[in-house]
Amino acid sequence: MLYRVTGGRLGQPPDKPKSGCSGGCGCSDSAGGARPTSRREFLGLIGVGTAGLAAMVAGIPIIGALFSKPARSEQVWQLVGSIDDFEIDETVKVEFIDDDPAPWAGPAARNAAYLRRIDDEEFTAFSIYCTHVGCPVAWREGASLFICPCHGGVFDREGEVVAGPPETPLVRLDTRLRDGQVEILAAPVPVTGRRRS
Ligand code: FES
Repeated sequence: MLYRVTGGRLGQPPDKPKSGCSGGCGCSDSAGGARPTSRREFLGLIGVGTAGLAAMVAGIPIIGALFSKPARSEQVWQLVGSIDDFEIDETVKVEFIDDDPAPWAGPAARNAAYLRRIDDEEFTAFSIYCTHVGCPVAWREGASLFICPCHGGVFDREGEVVAGPPETPLVRLDTRLRDGQVEILAAPVPVTGRRRS
């Protein structure tokens, strides 16, 4: 009896399916049929594990913020130098570090102000932050002006607005002398000033 070629040799009965079939042929080999299911399960587990890890990493800052102390907003006296460091009628930038910064503050813990010595015992200080949207202003000695580079705000030597979008003068900061040292009452975040009338 002759047979058609269906996987065997001409004239021979077709080959029997081998055990360990890789699936897709419709055979009922249990070992071969179980492998795709296991692979799907394995890939599923990797997906779940990756999503869980990503959620955990994303949640760390949130959990840290919940348990960390809130950012401080009250003003504190900051030592900026000895009285003899400053010349009368000279406006200079003084820098200081927030005394109790939040752990995540980084460069934001650095602060600054402009200080002018009026006479032997009197000083005037201005916040460095423009009252428009908070960019630091620069003192131009030759023009006797504070210039804001962000949107062209200009303040005179007393901090009053003379040009640009700011509506309020530069914020004045209290000063005091203690044992020959100059201190400024400064806040870690900019404070707003009064509106221009
Ligand atoms: S922030 Fe100073 S002019 Fe806008």
